Amino acid sequence: MRDHTTKLTLLKALADGEFHSGEALGELIGVSRAAISKHIKGIQDWGLDIYRVQGKGYKLAQPLNMLDDSKLKAPGVDSSLELIPIISSTNQHLLDKGDSLESGSVCIAEYQAAGRGRRGREWVSPFGANLYLSMYWRLDAGMAAAMGLSLVVGVAIVEALEEMGVEGVKLKWPNDLYHNDKKLAGILVELSGQSGGAANIVIGMGLNLSMDPSTSGIGQPWTSLKEVCEGQVPDRNELAQALINAWYKALDEYELKGMTDFVGRWNRLDNFLGRSVRLIIGPREIEGTVKGINEQGAVLLETENGIEAYIGGEISLRKAD
Ligand code: ATP
Ligand code: BTN
Repeated sequence: MRDHTTKLTLLKALADGEFHSGEALGELIGVSRAAISKHIKGIQDWGLDIYRVQGKGYKLAQPLNMLDDSKLKAPGVDSSLELIPIISSTNQHLLDKGDSLESGSVCIAEYQAAGRGRRGREWVSPFGANLYLSMYWRLDAGMAAAMGLSLVVGVAIVEALEEMGVEGVKLKWPNDLYHNDKKLAGILVELSGQSGGAANIVIGMGLNLSMDPSTSGIGQPWTSLKEVCEGQVPDRNELAQALINAWYKALDEYELKGMTDFVGRWNRLDNFLGRSVRLIIGPREIEGTVKGINEQGAVLLETENGIEAYIGGEISLRKAD
């Protein structure tokens, strides 16, 4: 990745949401006003809305609550945490680092140029608006247990949000957070490698915080915490720290006791429990009523043949029309 220090310095100055003259910004980084205008264009490409008023200078449409690694690390936790403001994908970064990483290592970013969802779909990742967070985890139980990870992490995120006073966030099997039937966050679990019996996994989360409602490129209804909390978005650094700790706790519990405790916790939060849905499995579609999940992490569907369990990365769940 290119060196983005100049643009990031400009953004730190603009983060207060006030006007800053081209001259003052030029002095700050030691370049001409023309060069500032070029950098501002580059910043706009990261999805930020900056405008210029003659005689006043540049201003961000919304103040920015930027990530700060000194605020992200929880006291007493010494696993590695990398804040890389501009990145292709936090999941890809940890996958590239491979199995040299310590279990629990975290990568967090302000902007992803190539954020992705399941099956290579795009994850829209504008600068500073959301959280893009990935963790490397060595799963001693091996590959067979990996399917449960998106469920366990999903439960951990919703419960952590509840502890912060955020109500009404639900889960959609197997990897999404919803609010009022709109997508708030997605979780992507990818295999980095295997060593001995253990599976080395990268778990990534994109959680929308204050993404501009006019953001384009998302092909389904979506929402952000700003809407959920009616304008009161939690501090991004505090939220990220709380989520990282919640993941550590949930992943340790999962390693120790498996899914047992998570089944009830998931079912309480399942957005589609008791509702009619379709499961899309390649060319096949199955209709039924959601009955929660089982201890393998499979979704239970009541169909005309009784209750059936479905599991696998190729399955998509949709609300019945
Ligand atoms: P599935 O049930 O198969 O998981 P999905 O539509 O949720 O279906 P994913 O691969 O999980 O698909 O997520 C990627 C999709 O999420 C994208 O195709 C897009 O529709 C949507 N999306 C992309 N960026 C965002 C975002 N920032 N917030 C909400 N939704 C997004
Ligand atoms: C989905 O809904 O399919 C999952 C979306 C996961 C997005 C996150 S953002 C942080 C991490 N890095 C990525 O490229 N993807 C995940």
